[in-house]
Amino acid sequence: MVATFDRIARNSGYGLLVTPLFEDIGVFVRGVGEHTDVVTKEMYDFSDKGGRHIALRPEVTAQVARAFIQHRPLLPWKVRYGGPQFRYERPQAGRYRQFFQVGAEALGSEDPDLDVEVIALGWDLCESLAVSGVKLWVNSLGDKHCRGKYREVLVAFLAERAGSLCAEHSKRWESNPLRVLDCKKPECKSETAAAPWQIDHLCPECESHWSGVRSGLDDLEIPYEILPRLVRGLDYYTRTTFEFTSSALDGAQNAVGGGGRYGGLIESLGGPPTPGIGLSMGVDRLMLAVGPDASGPRGPEVFVVDLTGGGHARRICGALRRQGIAAERAFDARSLKAQLRSADRVGARFAAIVGEAEAARSVVTLREMEGERRQVEVAVADLAAKLVEARSAPDAVGGS
Ligand code: HAM
Repeated sequence: MVATFDRIARNSGYGLLVTPLFEDIGVFVRGVGEHTDVVTKEMYDFSDKGGRHIALRPEVTAQVARAFIQHRPLLPWKVRYGGPQFRYERPQAGRYRQFFQVGAEALGSEDPDLDVEVIALGWDLCESLAVSGVKLWVNSLGDKHCRGKYREVLVAFLAERAGSLCAEHSKRWESNPLRVLDCKKPECKSETAAAPWQIDHLCPECESHWSGVRSGLDDLEIPYEILPRLVRGLDYYTRTTFEFTSSALDGAQNAVGGGGRYGGLIESLGGPPTPGIGLSMGVDRLMLAVGPDASGPRGPEVFVVDLTGGGHARRICGALRRQGIAAERAFDARSLKAQLRSADRVGARFAAIVGEAEAARSVVTLREMEGERRQVEVAVADLAAKLVEARSAPDAVGGS
């Protein structure tokens, strides 16, 4: 999965960025938002021997912003990343305290086409992995010009219903009213069903950006649904937010990825005003959604069975692997039967058997491991070509 995302993102011009597993805690407090669950409840933080207050990274976007400010690369700056993240959450299926994300960030442009490009990375990953029942949900949260006005409208709406919200939000609705829309509790969901939505209160610039994103997705034939309550749990978002869900996963943990645009993140960390957009995909959840069969490694193309002690297996495997052919072998000079059993277990398509008689003539007996188990004698010098030919020709072995 990591390799598949790597290929997709590299093909779209995203260079590899490796960020550290821990950082000064301020990067996350100021970047992700001091009132977010990620910062207030889920951070693994500690003081190191030099008295620095640091945290295991809960996500990468704030780190990318920090790296940008520190190194000032040319814009647009497009990077991809992958690695473990840490959040002190209640562990359950699909929610772990250490989980693995792949992701990408693009800094330096407000063009809605960049939003479309980033969303397409996630869509193409889900398509390539054949994740079942994938849905893309999109929304716009406006920017600092229209969010303030919308907030007033939302606060007025919530004020009339505060007593009926969930225990947490009946107390905390005013400090962060947007978060109430994101609450999964039934009380909050039903009370906010008729809430005013940000997408109906966008300023002309945000409206035009939002319409550019939707027409770009239409143009690439990426299906989406508009979810006006999609505010997401991190504070840096402005304008576009999006999430991918899979029907193969349980309700509360069904998001396999998400992201959005951040207009003020770089500034909040002390950098020059620089827009950005990114996404992160949860590899653990993608694996749960796809299942072990589809993501499991495929067997080698050939298993070299050496009955002369191992020297031929060493040389033949070495040569085949250098030519890009997946070749496997046994060790410890096992019997013919034991080596064939190993070839079967790893799912090899062919066994290439070398006994004393074959070795004397520089040939192998190439045997199918499935179906009719036909076999044919092949010169060692021709083995690579024969195996390459067999990739596209199911009958390549012929023989008896
Ligand atoms: P996020 O929604 O917090 O966004 O995480 C993205 C994905 O990581 C989720 O959709 C989920 O698949 C996976 N994930 C999150 N927490 C856990 C967990 N505890 N266990 C297993 N999987 C988990 C971000 O992290 C943002 N940095 C996305 C972004 C990039 N926004 C802009 N750029």
